[in-house]
Amino acid sequence: MIDRKILKDITVLYAEDESIIQEGIIETLNLFDINVICVKDGQEGLSIFKSSNKKIDLILTDIKMPKLSGIGMIAEIRKIDKDIPIIITTAHQETSFLMESIELNVSAYVLKPIDIYKLEETLIKAIEAKVLKEELIEKNEKLKIEIERNEEKQRIIEVQSRFAAMGEMIGMIAHQWRQPLASIGTASFNLKYKLLSGKFDLETKEGRDEQSDFFTKKLDEIEFYVQNLTTTIDDFRNFFKTDKILTNTIIEKPIKNCLKIMQKELETNNVDIQLNLNSNKQINMHENEILHVIINLLKNAQDKFLEKEIVNARIEIETFDLEDGLQINIYDNGGVIQAENLDVIFEPYFSTKKEKNGTGIGLYMSKIIVEKNHKGKLSVSNIKEGVCFSIVLYSMI
Ligand SMILES: Nc1ncnc2c1ncn2[C@@H]1O[C@H](COP(=O)(O)OP(=O)(O)O)[C@@H](O)[C@H]1O
Ligand SMILES: [Mg+2]
Repeated sequence: MIDRKILKDITVLYAEDESIIQEGIIETLNLFDINVICVKDGQEGLSIFKSSNKKIDLILTDIKMPKLSGIGMIAEIRKIDKDIPIIITTAHQETSFLMESIELNVSAYVLKPIDIYKLEETLIKAIEAKVLKEELIEKNEKLKIEIERNEEKQRIIEVQSRFAAMGEMIGMIAHQWRQPLASIGTASFNLKYKLLSGKFDLETKEGRDEQSDFFTKKLDEIEFYVQNLTTTIDDFRNFFKTDKILTNTIIEKPIKNCLKIMQKELETNNVDIQLNLNSNKQINMHENEILHVIINLLKNAQDKFLEKEIVNARIEIETFDLEDGLQINIYDNGGVIQAENLDVIFEPYFSTKKEKNGTGIGLYMSKIIVEKNHKGKLSVSNIKEGVCFSIVLYSMI
């Protein structure tokens, strides 16, 4: 459908040397509410275009004109503006310019004598294309800004997630360290006490041997626990290493690492872990990221056990191979997720633990890691006594 309104208030540069034709066309263009700047040759047209400061929306030009031809003018204008719509008015016999004008990206031709309806239609089509293009450019700009904003949001969430993970890690380190630190404290207290209280008779060889044995035993104990503390730190340091490279490994490895890191905490909370690991496939993965996901899932289950004071808390981790990948299912028996929350738990900042410092980032990041970074699938479903999170991973190249 032709929309005449599109021509209203546009500015056309019109080049035509024959004044009779010129007058008729100007009158017609004015009827369409078009502003017309009229010139008599290509030279004048070019210099007006150059000084118009992009105010001209369309060029309508004759071919044969003195000083500079229509084609000559268009060629110069195209050096400045690749997109402005150009319509040529031409007589039947002028065909030699056709190839040239195609190369100059001319929008359309109107035959002389000019049919007013044809001219109107041609103008509308040319301007429509220009408007559409401008709208597209504007939309693209907006989209770009939107994408940049989203990327910025994503970066902020990633930083927050890192902090949240660090907070959780520090909690786990504290758990792991509590017992060895207490044991070191006890051993050193014992040493000091025995030394100061003169428990050993240093006058006799027997007494000296007894003291030496006791000291050796306690120092061995301290050494053992210090080793234990060091191992814990190493485990956690590995976790925080940035993980840009893919490693070819079986899924059991990050699962076992996760259990090692969380072992003390799970024991303290009496969580029974059942493993049913049947996947043997080696696939390429960002191991630390997958470890991070498994930790998030186990942590969430454990949070729920504590919140609901579940007595026979149980987590089952099951793995098996698929034709083109593998699957990990993590079941817990801490109760189901409310139906209305099933869709939103993966959204950033959704948390039902706000008053207990829940961040709502864990599952969101897990989803990003599995689905964006690994092109896999992370999903959740309610089961009889609790929930099951499933991860499907494919080998990445
Ligand atoms: N195993 C689970 N059982 C029940 N609800 C869960 C489980 N895991 C996650 N959720 C729900 O999903 C929400 C979002 O989890 P997450 O993104 O890890 O954030 P956060 O743990 O900080 O709340 C939790 O607040 C909880 O309501
Ligand atoms: Mg969580």
